[in-house]
Amino acid sequence: MIKYAGGLEPPFTKGRPFDMKNLTTAELRELYLRFFRERGHAIISSSSLVPENDPSALFTMAGMHPLVPYLLGAKHPAGARLADVQKCVRTGDIDEVGDASHCTFFEMLGNWSLGDYFKKEAIAWSWEFLTGEEWLGIDKDKLYFTCFAGEEGLPRDEEAHDRWVEMGADPSHIFYLGRKHNWWGPAGQTGPCGPDTEMFIDTGKEPCGEDCFPGCDCGKYLEIWNDVFMQYNKTADGKYEPLAQKNVDTGMGLERTVATLQGVPTVYDTDAFTGILAKISELSGKNYGDSPEVTKAFRIIADHMRTAAFMLGDQRGVTPSNVDQGYILRRIIRRAIRYAMQLGMPEMSISKVAEAVIETYGGIYPELNDNRARVIAELDAEEQKFQRTLKQGTKEFERIKTSFPDGRIDGVTAFHLFDTFGFPVEFTEELAKENGLTVDVEGYKAAFAEHQAKSRAGAEQKFKGGLADHSEATTKLHTATHLLQAGLRKVLNDENIFQRGSNITPERLRFDFSFPRKVTPEELKEVEKYVNDAIKADVEITCEEMTVPEAKAKGAIGVFEKKYGELVKVYTMGEYSCEMCGGPHANRTGELGVFKIKKEEASSSGVRRIKAVLE
Ligand code: ALA
Repeated sequence: MIKYAGGLEPPFTKGRPFDMKNLTTAELRELYLRFFRERGHAIISSSSLVPENDPSALFTMAGMHPLVPYLLGAKHPAGARLADVQKCVRTGDIDEVGDASHCTFFEMLGNWSLGDYFKKEAIAWSWEFLTGEEWLGIDKDKLYFTCFAGEEGLPRDEEAHDRWVEMGADPSHIFYLGRKHNWWGPAGQTGPCGPDTEMFIDTGKEPCGEDCFPGCDCGKYLEIWNDVFMQYNKTADGKYEPLAQKNVDTGMGLERTVATLQGVPTVYDTDAFTGILAKISELSGKNYGDSPEVTKAFRIIADHMRTAAFMLGDQRGVTPSNVDQGYILRRIIRRAIRYAMQLGMPEMSISKVAEAVIETYGGIYPELNDNRARVIAELDAEEQKFQRTLKQGTKEFERIKTSFPDGRIDGVTAFHLFDTFGFPVEFTEELAKENGLTVDVEGYKAAFAEHQAKSRAGAEQKFKGGLADHSEATTKLHTATHLLQAGLRKVLNDENIFQRGSNITPERLRFDFSFPRKVTPEELKEVEKYVNDAIKADVEITCEEMTVPEAKAKGAIGVFEKKYGELVKVYTMGEYSCEMCGGPHANRTGELGVFKIKKEEASSSGVRRIKAVLE
């Protein structure tokens, strides 16, 4: 049961169709989608958490992310008005999880206009959904708004401001703010972007000072929704060109909005987390709220296991590893295990928390149910590995503990124990104390910061390509990936070969696929020949839109992640390949050049990896 925790005043007037204090996560999802369906929007299902053929980002981090090609002008099979709930991951702030508002996974509600309606309708609908008696029915006096203040070359968004006033907003509740607050995108270096207008709820708290404003992070005003008017394309030389079509991209963080509407202090107090926290309680024998440390551990375990279950149970399931998505997943799982140990949860129980996540979300995201066995097996395997590493780390500690003449473990060594053996510094401090030693914690922090700066630079580098990096080289390699998959199925004569991961840089493709053994050099030669024959045949690459059953009937392979009835794109390359995919692709196979496989290796259990190039 959700309890009204008090403290914050729920922003409701009388006469709600249901008791807003008990509005559930499922109800808000449903209400939002119904509102937009009634206004001509097609409801599309959530895309994978792993961006399709987008080497520049590891995870889908906003509802607009999978829609970038359509914001740039490609025709979406479902039409020009869309609404959805998209699974998102943002791990930039992993070390801040445990406070009231940071989650590594969240669901984003969104509605889109792809060159259809614009500001006037978007704002009117936002207003109606927020204040309408049939909908959220929020007291309009509790609502605040921000609009883009403008800057050189980019006008102040007076149209948005005036529209809010026209709808009935109090003009003294509307603020103009600069780019930092009221501009969204591009997600990468280049691509669609534009001014936005954000909606806030006044919690009734005292302002933090005279300068407090919507957008201030003191907690008086909570942002619940963002309407972005994507009317520009940022070019590589930093210019803002008007887009051929004007789009609307909106985003409402589901968990945060439910918490705000319920008037509870954090997302962990909403029904989305009830079952997950109860499971942690059952396993640890402690209660959420016992002490600040216990509360923090509960939140971290709940958040991380939710994220891990969604990553492992995704349409393009991620596997723990030392690189890319797998590395983030590994860090998240191991951090959760450390906090589980701190709470006194028994070894090998972390996967039980993931079961509670599947229980909570399986109805909305069927892929979680479909992949239940995989989620649990991977978590158990990862915990086993981690427990072994911790034991090795303890041995390493025993070995080195006499090598500190002044009895002080230096920062670099403490960081090495963390980085290699997963020892948090507090853990090292405990061991040190038992052995009459101390730890240079400041030195540890410095080594940690230096390492983070390096890994951040890496992540930024990854992002640099821009989400819309459909450069010629990556497009051709993407086409070659389709031919490679078809070739593998043909040569290895195995219908159970499926894509397990794909990563393309302008230099090479990397393709992970399910297959139980090593592919022999002879077989690889044959696969190479299959692809090169397709290239020599120079067939036209065609794209058709159809429903999933039609695509299956046509023999298309692919990850069938969309709901039945939704249209999907199917790319056909003569007799050589037929695959469901969002594109883009080369026009003819003859454009590809010569295909060469550079490496074949194991990626994880039951998954092989091929790296290949076009020369
Ligand atoms: N893309 C916008 C956001 O993520 C709506 O806030």
